Amino acid sequence: MADSASVPMLKHKDLLEIATLSREEIQLILHTADSLKDVARHPIKKLPTLRGRTMVNLFYETSTRTRTSFELAAVRLSADVVNIDVGISSVKKGESLLDTARTLEAMSVDFIVMRHAASGAPHTLARNLHASVINAGDGQHEHPTQALLDCYTVREKLGGIAGKTITLFGDLLHSRVARSNLLAFTKLGAKVRFCGPPTLCPREFEQLGAEVHHDVKTALAGSDVIYVLRLQFERHRLGLLPSVRAYTQQYGISTDRVKLAKPGALVMHPGPMNRGVEISHEVADAPQSVIVDQVANGVPIRMAVLYLLESGRTARAASPPVPAPMGAAA
Ligand code: CP
Repeated sequence: MADSASVPMLKHKDLLEIATLSREEIQLILHTADSLKDVARHPIKKLPTLRGRTMVNLFYETSTRTRTSFELAAVRLSADVVNIDVGISSVKKGESLLDTARTLEAMSVDFIVMRHAASGAPHTLARNLHASVINAGDGQHEHPTQALLDCYTVREKLGGIAGKTITLFGDLLHSRVARSNLLAFTKLGAKVRFCGPPTLCPREFEQLGAEVHHDVKTALAGSDVIYVLRLQFERHRLGLLPSVRAYTQQYGISTDRVKLAKPGALVMHPGPMNRGVEISHEVADAPQSVIVDQVANGVPIRMAVLYLLESGRTARAASPPVPAPMGAAA
């Protein structure tokens, strides 16, 4: 949602999900990341945009890529960054999520980037805080910045997204990445397929707009992108898979299977990978793999999100809403 007058901005206070972003807002984020990507190539990798602002990383679940790239994104925009180590924080004494967040906000924090095992946890914070809340993954719900960097990578490598067939393989059931990617890619005009065993890829996903497959060969035919998801063993109940070996035989992405997609199809994975399980070593490191590019693109995408949210915050501060006159109808 660009301001019609001049400065590009997101008018939302928070970035919580792809579901409530418009196609134009997604395109604005991708376009803004184009101009910010160059900063990594400057001798001094910094812009002053967020000077004087503070961002907190509040991760209740583990992360390497997301947490580090948010930190780098904020530092490259000159913000101060605080990483909360939940394992040695007062969370361990039983402090609630909301009390933890309010404690941080009392120290004049501007952005809280949070990852939590409970779907909707960032939404709760967003409703209760003045700080901008950014969802870095909530339960099985969404991981919006992962979808944005994935869209950016496909657009960069294939020259566009509209009309492309993007096929996601594996553990769709537990994947917040799959939900955000389905929403983002379809908003940008791609066809999205989901493929996996019925226990991890139920038919109900058709109601969300995905084409559901249980056969790898038919799912791969005509695919421009082979997007492999991690088997999330930590979230599995007993009985979802006969065995890991059987899963790899039936659904693992090998060099032979990659050949069933369109020539030059991209191979993607959000990481961390279970090499030799959902993706072979050879495929992960093949020239068609853009997994490292996905990681690199996480920084400009997260810079763009911070930049656009900050522009919106500045605009709101400059023209606060006019209070309703006394006695006006609610
Ligand atoms: N893709 C992703 O979210 O990776 P991390 O868990 O390392 O942040």
